[in-house]
Amino acid sequence: MSGAHLLLKRALRDLPVGGRLGVRASARDFAMHLRGWCREQGHEFVEGDDQFVAWVVRGAASEGRWRGAERAGLSDARENGAVYADPPADWGFAARGAAIEAGGPDFYYSLQMKDQVWAENAPKLYAQAVAAQWNPQTAINWDEPFEADEEMERAVAQVMTYLIENENAALQVPARFIAQIHPHFREVLQLLAVQIADEARHVEVFTRRATMRGGDMGLSTVSGRQSLKTLLDEPDFALASFLLSVLGEGTFLNLLWFLERHAPDPVTRQIARLVAQDEARHVAFGVGHLQYQLTTDPALRGRLAMAVARRHDALSHTAGLSEEVFDALILLAAGSWRAEDIAAGYARVQTLKDEMRAGRTARLEKLGFSDAEAAELSALHTRNFM
Ligand SMILES: [Fe+2]
Ligand SMILES: [Fe+2]
Repeated sequence: MSGAHLLLKRALRDLPVGGRLGVRASARDFAMHLRGWCREQGHEFVEGDDQFVAWVVRGAASEGRWRGAERAGLSDARENGAVYADPPADWGFAARGAAIEAGGPDFYYSLQMKDQVWAENAPKLYAQAVAAQWNPQTAINWDEPFEADEEMERAVAQVMTYLIENENAALQVPARFIAQIHPHFREVLQLLAVQIADEARHVEVFTRRATMRGGDMGLSTVSGRQSLKTLLDEPDFALASFLLSVLGEGTFLNLLWFLERHAPDPVTRQIARLVAQDEARHVAFGVGHLQYQLTTDPALRGRLAMAVARRHDALSHTAGLSEEVFDALILLAAGSWRAEDIAAGYARVQTLKDEMRAGRTARLEKLGFSDAEAAELSALHTRNFM
């Protein structure tokens, strides 16, 4: 009917059920097509006369799939009641705010409740994340000159190698959960998707920095991989984001600020600054989401504490931060092999550890842990930093 059905639907929309619409058409066979269309749409077809090809009597079924369709919340999360606490799983991939035709396939989301995933800051953090995306090729001045020093370069490569394996964990842990989250919580999916893209860029820039002067990557230790694997093995979203984002990425913020301050070359300093900006958002979402969940489920606090203790026990036989990484950090912070510089570098790494512990304690307090609990849990956090 070459689109004539659009015109018919529009005209019928304004008629009451039982109302008659006279149809004129010039195309041959139009009446035949119209008869078929009316049958399909539940309208009555009445033979025409010399003025009209046919009459269409509006049927009651013509609202069809729209009748009884339920609105899946509202698209704008800022509107009251926009985001449901418990959206039905069978809304599936439907846009939030869509009219949902009843029926359809069953979806299953293990993260289906708002308080399992939501954070009040998620819509804002997503907007910030998109606005703050940087291009590794142009955001970093890779050609900025600095003096080549083979041992310093090896230390940088060791730290980069260590950072990359942490980034791989930070990429795959949220990726595990993203398909378990109900798409109704659109901003959370979007934010995690961009977070994963952030980690992909971090892997890129650290790899590039490690090898840009032709050197090899450093050592990846068993204890590092053991520590990170416990994050990937954690099946509970709240616990995984607590261990990864609040404690791990939170601790990494201090490490990145340290590198921004103390790395011996401008390229590494610039990379550390850009990566830290992204990580601050990852931490903010982890904290925001757990704060939200804790308002309805205060017992979660006990489970979070247990998760830290459990991980500590699981890793108690491991070596913690590798001496290769530790020594590399000291050398970077020293900036030279002079004995007094090395002593200063060592002192800076001790200060870094203190700052990490204090940062974790402050974040734990934001989640409602008492000072004493926060200090205790902070001390139990993996010595591998993430
Ligand atoms: Fe990262
Ligand atoms: Fe991250």
